Amino acid sequence: MAYDDILNLSRVSPHVGAEVADIDITRPLSERQVSALQRALAEFGVLFFHEQKFDHDSQKRFGRYFGELDIHPNTPGPPGHPEILPIHGDANSKVVAGEGWHSDVSCTANPPLGSILHMHVLPESGGDTLFASAGAVYDSLSPRMQAYLEGLTAFHSGDRYYRWRNAKEGIDDSGRRYPSANHPVVLRHPVSGRKSIYVNSFFTYAINELPEEESEAILNFLYSRFADPMFQTRFRWRKNSVAFWDNRAVQHLAIWDYFPHTRTGSRVTVKAAT
Ligand code: SIN
Repeated sequence: MAYDDILNLSRVSPHVGAEVADIDITRPLSERQVSALQRALAEFGVLFFHEQKFDHDSQKRFGRYFGELDIHPNTPGPPGHPEILPIHGDANSKVVAGEGWHSDVSCTANPPLGSILHMHVLPESGGDTLFASAGAVYDSLSPRMQAYLEGLTAFHSGDRYYRWRNAKEGIDDSGRRYPSANHPVVLRHPVSGRKSIYVNSFFTYAINELPEEESEAILNFLYSRFADPMFQTRFRWRKNSVAFWDNRAVQHLAIWDYFPHTRTGSRVTVKAAT
């Protein structure tokens, strides 16, 4: 499909994701290309690219076309590149990033627009990433449930997830403080205007306006909708593939089925405009 006559784009599943071909995102892009990518990202939720040999500088340049880059609140980047989040699993790993459905760093007051993950080393098989459309999850709810959720807010915090991860890795984080924030349960996407569900199992603690048991039941129900394969796509990485996802439009889950083999990538996270 020619997207706005600029991108060679093919939808990868009915609800989420598109592959973009014939573009070299490791090199400087034109304004028209960037604007077409912005629109495509808002519409498809996640864009996939192959054969993109990013280094840290070109990955950061690509990210900066879409906004300022974030520095991860738990995991520092390599020297000189604090904005690069290393993604790694091997035979010594006790945990890997993203093993449950989530939207990146939703615990911050201004959660990121998107994340751009470049994969350098892959196991012979496995290590796929699942993406689910948060808009399709919202659309699948009954009008009564949609009305019930409208106007509710949820409390998100990095405390539980990051301390759990650090404990597994033997990292002492007792002196650290993690961000927390309240966000609407139903989000309206700033570019597409589409409504989506914005609660996730990593960072959301509770729906503020509901009694504890009711909040837990509703959150578990919403999480179960993301687990429905109907709303998902599964990305099979190749060396030098890139996935660029919109954290307001999709949730994702990294499958750690390749232990003890090695999988290595690097991610930049793009801040949303304030
Ligand atoms: C993440 O950013 O949550 C990790 C995704 C992945 O490793 O596929």
